Amino acid sequence: MKESSNMKKIITVIGARPQIIKAAALSRAIQEKWDSHLEEVLVHTGQHYDENLSAVFFDEMNIPRPKYQLEVGSGLHGAQTAKMMIDLEAVVLKEKPDAVVVYGDTNSTLAAALVAAKLHIPLIHIEAGLRSFNKSMPEEINRILCDHCSTLLFSPTKSGIHNLENEGFKKGNAGPYSADNPLIVHCGDVMLDNALYFAQKAQETKSLPAEISGDFALATVHRPYNTDDPQRLKAVMQALMDIYTKHKMQVVLPLHPRTKHLLEQHLPEFFDGMKTSPALVLCEPLGYLDMILLESQAKLIVTDSGGVQKEAYFFKTPCIVLRTETEWTELIESGAAKLSFDLDKIDQHVDTLLSHPPQEWPAFYGDGKAAEFIAEKLLQTL
Ligand code: UD1
Ligand code: UDP
Repeated sequence: MKESSNMKKIITVIGARPQIIKAAALSRAIQEKWDSHLEEVLVHTGQHYDENLSAVFFDEMNIPRPKYQLEVGSGLHGAQTAKMMIDLEAVVLKEKPDAVVVYGDTNSTLAAALVAAKLHIPLIHIEAGLRSFNKSMPEEINRILCDHCSTLLFSPTKSGIHNLENEGFKKGNAGPYSADNPLIVHCGDVMLDNALYFAQKAQETKSLPAEISGDFALATVHRPYNTDDPQRLKAVMQALMDIYTKHKMQVVLPLHPRTKHLLEQHLPEFFDGMKTSPALVLCEPLGYLDMILLESQAKLIVTDSGGVQKEAYFFKTPCIVLRTETEWTELIESGAAKLSFDLDKIDQHVDTLLSHPPQEWPAFYGDGKAAEFIAEKLLQTL
């Protein structure tokens, strides 16, 4: 309920693991500083629903409980996005917010963006402007469409602003802002806010898995191009195990459910071998605090995750990105991370990253206060 005419109401739509994590930073900023000016109503689409992909983050990151749980669940892209839209439209009509806030590039982001735009509610995109220039990724479609429906576009990086300018967005334009006269703002990365905020708590309250002995690498794999073709999936998993053989580092691998289901379905015997291999410390998806502790202590991270490659940078851990390109281009340009879709190159990259670890870690992602900045800007412009 709006308390006064100065009180603005936003609906924040989350659904997949990384969005829940990202949303923690703005929710925290609102609770700490702006709760007499900004009311946040959280809506969870239910895109991710397993306890360890969703509920765990609310508890440990102190995120307010969603007022609406849409429980949309898994499905094909069209059906999943459509179900979200139907339910989100009803919520937005009922709540009558001043704006809808979305994060990143998932189907939950796209569904909320379309609903807000069609109802003429200002859309605020946090993590705007990122581009992989690879439209075979569902995320690339989602983020482009979302950006072009938005009124306020908060980009974590300078390259994001540059991408938006290349698509016709203008910097420094005067208000009032709308989807036809959007404002683009460089704000830093809310994921850095969280990493800095929670790093000490992770050190104090969590410990490494007991199976780890000595130096270790951390890996995550969930992108369709690494998981959906069984041959590729097997080769990726074998490449992780080879890190142990060649570099004597165990690889901790929290398995995303997508990856686990596909291993069970297509490669059951190989998966059994992975479970008993001394090379791997296999585990269920981890909570955020366990995850950032591992990221900060690992000698190396191997991942196809957008968020994990950046957290590797935050914790100054060299990273191999199992993709042909990344939207976080500064990671590659600075030498802190290496792109390696080609699995034969991993060995060489590990050698390079371990023998010549990056020495400089410029502050590409801001100062850890992105969420505060965003909240303030929201209040100025809504
Ligand atoms: C989604 C996002 C991706 C993001 C990732 C973060 C899209 C198109 N993709 O990918 O951008 O990087 O989340 O993790 O939005 N499943 C479960 N339990 C769950 C959720 C999913 O078992 O709680 C399984 C289901 O079999 C489901 C599969 O994982 O079909 C994929 O889930 P989905 O949300 O469609 O895509 P992700 O691969 O998780
Ligand atoms: N993460 C986590 N537990 C895990 C794997 C990842 O808490 O087992 C966190 C990770 O620290 C980061 C976020 O999830 O904050 C990244 O999400 P994900 O890799 O699922 O998606 P992406 O960033 O690729 O969209």
